[in-house]
Amino acid sequence: MQRTPIIAGNWKMHKTTEEAREFAHAVRSLTPKENMDTVICAPFTSLDALVQELEGYPIAVGAQNMHWEESGAYTGEISPGMLTSLGVQYVIIGHSERREYFAETDETVNRKAKAAFAHGLTPIVCVGENVEQREGGKTKEWVREQVLRAVEGLSSEQAKQLVIAYEPIWAIGTGKSSSAEDAQDVIAFIRSTVEDGFDAQVAAQVRIQYGGSVKPDNIGTYMEQPDIDGALVGGASLTPESFLKLLEGAR
Ligand code: G3P
Repeated sequence: MQRTPIIAGNWKMHKTTEEAREFAHAVRSLTPKENMDTVICAPFTSLDALVQELEGYPIAVGAQNMHWEESGAYTGEISPGMLTSLGVQYVIIGHSERREYFAETDETVNRKAKAAFAHGLTPIVCVGENVEQREGGKTKEWVREQVLRAVEGLSSEQAKQLVIAYEPIWAIGTGKSSSAEDAQDVIAFIRSTVEDGFDAQVAAQVRIQYGGSVKPDNIGTYMEQPDIDGALVGGASLTPESFLKLLEGAR
């Protein structure tokens, strides 16, 4: 099964709208179209500008979160329909920072994944263990639960479109990336978990990224692994130079 690789930048809480526009100008003409999906997941305030600046270029725009309801009394929240009306195509769901600081749970992740599909958005669902779980040998047990809870109630067709990002929490922003072999091991396990939840066909199609201190000089080692279909990148996606080098390194 040939899966299209997907490289996504997660800007987290960085960049003003003006800075986002400048970034888009710097990267858009330099990124040739090829068999790779490229996404920038930006703060809500920059999404509209990015969609406009990147129209006609092979870089899609994603959000970093959303609510699952279509509208209502949810002060400060953004709905899936608000994102699609801008031309946003992806949404990160359940990033560990949202789970840790904003009470995101497996249940809200599942609701958001369903809402994303209902609105034609592709969810990038994040899973990953913390350092205690890793050292206690609980990584697979933890990640399996997160994956199965996230995909509960999705159809096989939806599950095939899903992107899962395996981001070990201890590797995020620390410079301590997982070895490519360890990441492959967990990601192959995630794929087999998807097979348990659906079937072999779905498991063969779902795309699974690695995230956690991915840089231009190590992205290639992840991309060489048979089950790793791309990367979700924080810090190294923030400058046009580094972002372009990531894309180079991923080829
Ligand atoms: O979502 C990407 C992220 O959590 C990884 O961040 O800065 O370690 O690449 P970073």
